[in-house]
Amino acid sequence: MGTNSMLELIKSRRSVRNFKNKKVSIEELKTLVEAATWAPSGSNIQPWFFGIVDDEEILEKIKNFSPGLFGEPANLIVLCVNYEEAIKKGGELGKELCIYDIAMAAQNIMLAATASGLATCCIKSFSKRAVNKILNLPEHISSELVISIGYAEKTPQPPKRKKQGEVTFINNWGDFLNEE
Ligand SMILES: Cc1cc2nc3c(=O)[nH]c(=O)nc-3n(C[C@H](O)[C@H](O)[C@H](O)COP(=O)(O)O)c2cc1C
Repeated sequence: MGTNSMLELIKSRRSVRNFKNKKVSIEELKTLVEAATWAPSGSNIQPWFFGIVDDEEILEKIKNFSPGLFGEPANLIVLCVNYEEAIKKGGELGKELCIYDIAMAAQNIMLAATASGLATCCIKSFSKRAVNKILNLPEHISSELVISIGYAEKTPQPPKRKKQGEVTFINNWGDFLNEE
C-alpha cells in the first residue's frame, strides 16, 4: 500500500454510531487484535490485553455502564492495561506509557477494521470499574478503552478538521504554515 492509499484509508475511517444487525466473524476480530499487538509499545513492554466481546448479554451489560457507547454494535474489543507488569518493568514511566500504548493499539484496530469494510467507534465514556467487574478482570488489570465494531448502517460525514496550516509550525512557535 502506497502512502496515498494509506492516507485515503486514514481519512476514510469514521466514528460510526449506527450499526447493521450483522455479526462480525471471530476470524475478523482476531485479525483486528493481531493488528493491535503490532502497535509500537514504550520499552516494548506491551502491557496490554484485548477482550473480545461477542456475547450479547455481556455486551448489553457493558452498554448499560457506557454513556458514550451508541448504537447496537455487533462486537466490542475492550483494551485493557496490565498495570502490575507496566510498573514492574518500567516504574512510574512504564505506568505513564500504558495509555500511549493502548491508544496506538486502538488506532491499529480501527484502521485494520476500516480496511476490512468494518465500522468502529473509540469509546472512553464508560465506567472502568463496572466493565472490569463485568469482564471478571483481576485487580491489577483495568479496562481503558472500548472499541465498538460492526457493519455501518450509516456512515457520518467527516467531522471538520482543523486546517493543517493552523496546527503546523516550522521550527519556531508562531511560524505556522497558514496555507489553504
Ligand atoms: C480518546 C477518545 C475517546 C472517545 N470517546 C468517545 C466516546 O466515549 N463516545 C463516542 O461516541 N465517541 C468517542 N470518541 C470518538 C470521537 O468523538 C471522534 O473520533 C471525533 O468526533 C472525530 O470523528 P471521526 O472519528 O469520525 O473522525 C472518542 C475518540 C477518542 C480519540
